[in-house]
Amino acid sequence: MSDRIAHPGLRAKVMTADEAATFVNDGDLVGMSGFTGAGYPKVLPTAIAKRAKEFHDRGDSFSISLLTGASTSAELDGELAEADAVKFRAPYQSDPIMRDKINSGQMKYADIHLSHLGMMVQEGFFGKMDVAIVEVTKILEDGRIVPSSSVGNNVEYLDAADKIILGVNSWQSEELEGMHDIYRIPLPGHRQPIPITEVGDRIGSPYIDIDVSKVVAVVETDSPDRNAPFKPADETSKKIAGYFLDFLEGEVRAGRLSYDRYIMQSGVGNVPNAVMAGLLDSKFENITAYTEVIQDGMLDLIDAGKMSVASATSFSLSPEYAEKMNREAKRYRENIILRPQQVSNHPEVIRRLGLIATNGMIEADIYGNINSTNVIGSRVMNGIGGSGDFTRNAYISSFISPAVAKGGALSAIVPYVTHTDHTEHDVMVVITEHGYADLRGLAPRDRAEKMIAIAAPEYRPLLEEYVDRAGQGEFLQTPHELAHVFDFQKRFVETGSMLK
Ligand code: COA
Repeated sequence: MSDRIAHPGLRAKVMTADEAATFVNDGDLVGMSGFTGAGYPKVLPTAIAKRAKEFHDRGDSFSISLLTGASTSAELDGELAEADAVKFRAPYQSDPIMRDKINSGQMKYADIHLSHLGMMVQEGFFGKMDVAIVEVTKILEDGRIVPSSSVGNNVEYLDAADKIILGVNSWQSEELEGMHDIYRIPLPGHRQPIPITEVGDRIGSPYIDIDVSKVVAVVETDSPDRNAPFKPADETSKKIAGYFLDFLEGEVRAGRLSYDRYIMQSGVGNVPNAVMAGLLDSKFENITAYTEVIQDGMLDLIDAGKMSVASATSFSLSPEYAEKMNREAKRYRENIILRPQQVSNHPEVIRRLGLIATNGMIEADIYGNINSTNVIGSRVMNGIGGSGDFTRNAYISSFISPAVAKGGALSAIVPYVTHTDHTEHDVMVVITEHGYADLRGLAPRDRAEKMIAIAAPEYRPLLEEYVDRAGQGEFLQTPHELAHVFDFQKRFVETGSMLK
C-alpha cells in the first residue's frame, strides 16, 4: 500500500475500484473532481461505466447526474457517456462521445458559469449530493488531503456529499503539496470581501479538511492526467497573436497599461497558446495570470522569467509539460497557486485586479455579441466554461478566433449570432487574423464597421450588403433586417457554405 495514506482509519478503507463503484447507485447525484484533463479520478469512472453496463445487460436502469469542475477526459466523460451511465451533466464538457449524446437528446446538459456551480451545490439546486469522488495526491495523518492537479469544485462536493470516495494517485507529484490555496466562500448573508488584492496572495490553507467519517472507500491509482497535446501554431494563429500584441502595445501607448502590469486571463486552445508564445518575445515583463487553467505557454513564460505568478484552479498541460510539472513541481510552486474555482473565477476578484481576458469564440456578430457554445444555434460544442465569469468582469474583455471555420465555409463574423453567450455590452475587443476591432465606447453602427473590417475578405461584401439593407429600416439604433437576420447560417445549412 502506498505511503501516501497516513491516516490509519482511511488506510483501512483501501479497496479496488470495482468494490468502490458499488457505492454509486442508479439515480445518484455524483460530484467528481477534474478540470480539463487534470485531477479527475482515474480508474473509478471506468469501474462505474462497467457497473452501468452490467445493470443495463440485466435490464435494470443505471444512470447518474454528474457534476465536475469542468471538462475531464475520455476516461471519465467518454466512457460514462458511451455506457449510457449519465442522464444529466453540468457545468461543462468537451468530450466528443458525450457531445453527441447531448446533441442527439439522449443526455441532458446544463451549461453553467463555472464560478456559479459550487454555490448552486451548496444551496442544493441539484438536490442532495450522494457521492463525491475526488482524486488526491496524499492523505495526511489527521485526514486532511493534499489536492492533485486541479481543485475545481472539490471542496463543495466533499462538504455536500453523504459519501466520499478518495482516489490517491501516486502519479501526481508529492511536491504539489503547498501549491494549493483552499478558501471556502460562505453562502450569501455570511460573506466578507475575498482578501485577494494581488494575483499571488494566499488566503487559505494548502489542504482540504474533510469529514473523515463520510469516507466509504479509498482507491489507489498510478495513472497520468490526460490532456491532448497542443497543435503547433499555424500562420493564422501567429497572425492573431501578432494583432493581440499590437493591441496591448496600443494600450501601453495610450497610458492604460504598462509593460510590467499585464494581468492575463487566457482561455484554452491553440490560438491562446500562440498568443503566449508571442509574449515570450515581447517587451512585457512581470506578467501575471489570474486565470482558470495553467497552460504550456505559461510554464514557458515562467521559465523565461517573463511571468512572475500564475493563479488558476487547474493545469491544462500537454503530456510533455505535465511530465515536466511532475518533475519540477517544487520549483513551479513558487510561481503557481491553485485555488477552488469559486475563487479563481470570482467576479469580485477579477474586477478588482483589472485583468485582460482573452477567450475563443464560435461566432461574433456585427454588433459584438458572441456565441461561444452552440454551432448554428442548437449544436453544443463545449460550453461557456469560465468565459462569462471573466468577460463580464475583466478590465478589458477580448475574443480571438480565425475569421473562418471549416475551410472557409463558415464566417466567424455574421449579421446575428444564433446563440448569445456574451452580449455586446460585455465584449470590448475582437481579434482575427485580419486585425482587431476595438469596440470600446462605440455605438452599434460604428461597431459594425469595425467588425466587418476583421471579417474574411470574401465575406465583407455580404456583411456590408446586410448592413446597407438593415439601414433602410425605420429604427436605426441597432439596425436589423429581421427576415434575413440568419441568412448566413441558413445558407450554410442549405448549401454547405455561408458564401453565396
Ligand atoms: N461555426 C461552426 N463551427 C466552428 C465555428 C463556427 N463559426 N468556429 C469554430 N468552429 C469549430 C471548429 O471548426 C472546430 O471544430 P473541429 O474540432 O470539428 O474542427 C472547433 O469549433 C474549435 O475551433 P478552433 O478554431 O480550433 O478554436 P478553439 O480551439 O479556440 O475553440 C471554442 C473555440 C469556442 C470552441 C472554444 O474556445 C470554447 O469552447 N470556448 C468556450 C469555453 C471557454 O471560453 N473556455 C475558456 C474559459 S476560461
